[in-house]
Amino acid sequence: MSEAPIGIFDSGVGGLSILNAIQERLPNENLIYFADSKYAPYGKLDEARLKERCLFIANFFHEQNTKAMVIACNTATALMAEWLRAEYSIPIIAIEPAIKPATLITKTNKIGVFATSHTLSSQRYQNLKNTYAKGFKVFESHCLGFVEQVELGELETEQTIGLIKRYLQPMLNNNIDTLVLGCTHYPFLKNAIQKVAAETPLTIVDNANAVSLQLNKILNEQGILNSSHSGRSTFYSSLGSESHNSIFSRLLSSDTKVNYIAD
Ligand code: DGL
Repeated sequence: MSEAPIGIFDSGVGGLSILNAIQERLPNENLIYFADSKYAPYGKLDEARLKERCLFIANFFHEQNTKAMVIACNTATALMAEWLRAEYSIPIIAIEPAIKPATLITKTNKIGVFATSHTLSSQRYQNLKNTYAKGFKVFESHCLGFVEQVELGELETEQTIGLIKRYLQPMLNNNIDTLVLGCTHYPFLKNAIQKVAAETPLTIVDNANAVSLQLNKILNEQGILNSSHSGRSTFYSSLGSESHNSIFSRLLSSDTKVNYIAD
């Protein structure tokens, strides 16, 4: 059981930011990553379609005998985490926007949150804000187009910088000093965001490390950490495209082969 793989999924390549953190903390684990890039962005799917996609991916992981699943997608977590947990008996680790750490960091008590509209309008996100962000001013933006730019590997192009300016400038004008990246695609835009913020001091936070810590804790509690040898990662995608290999390789900083899975 301990050598069984861990399934990690996202609407696309964004969850690779979570995979990076997991590989670093748990180098012995075998990882299976599924990018549902054919259906990205999940922000544009209705709930029924999103459920179908989560079911497809969870069944794929089940066939691979995964010992745990990581929902490396804030949007899928916001809408599907409870349902997936009720359907599958393996541990399921989910992600949520890093509101709590942001409230501990901010000095102006003004926080920006970049996330998809599904995440921002979810009950789960409202609960998170009610629990941790009372007394803080939270500025939110659903950042249309960010996910698509990352899927294309356009991390610092003129168009991407323009989009970031459109969503970040109003927040900077409102004196935020901390920005939460509440979508796993966005950490790949961190350099571009920092460029746009320029001289304005801005702390950018995400929850990739928190997810890897939580995964470590749960595997440890269940006695299923893999300590026997160094792990390997295998990559799958619902999008059969050659350019996908190079985007994966770029985001992971190593030559990566992506296996196509037809749905
Ligand atoms: N990476 C996903 C997230 O964290 C992107 C959502 C989408 O595809 O709209 O929310």
